[in-house]
Amino acid sequence: MSETTPGSILVINGPNLNLLGTREPEIYGHETLADVEALCRNAAAQAGYGVEFLQSNHEGVLIDAIHAARTTMVGIVINPGALTHTSVALADAISGVQLPTVEVHISNVHQREAFRHHSYISPVAASVIVGAGTNGYVLGVEHLVHLVGR
Ligand code: DQA
Repeated sequence: MSETTPGSILVINGPNLNLLGTREPEIYGHETLADVEALCRNAAAQAGYGVEFLQSNHEGVLIDAIHAARTTMVGIVINPGALTHTSVALADAISGVQLPTVEVHISNVHQREAFRHHSYISPVAASVIVGAGTNGYVLGVEHLVHLVGR
């Protein structure tokens, strides 16, 4: 992660989302993570916010970024990838920092395998957006702006 920007929105992507655009395009589409980053920056800029954009395949890196966001970010938009369905530690990090958090999934996880129907993150997220494709990130940023009231 680059340096944190005070008052910005932290957008986090978990494992395998670096492969967006080439990974199972029939499920996740053809846009890349760089495209998603541009969408998020544009949506945030409309409301006068910057974006700190992070992707990692490592759970601890994501947790450290959430901890660091506590004093520097207004809120979090997160697509935790498969950690959604496995990570109590990520959920604890989110509830620990008490920042408004919007959970985003590109695919409609409820139309997919049963193991994707449960999220450890949803109980600690303010809102959940599923199945809207990469536009879900735009909706997530816009909704976070709405939640933090600018
Ligand atoms: C995902 C859905 C998860 O089940 C999956 O493991 C991902 C991506 C989505 O954006 O649809 O990596 O979070």
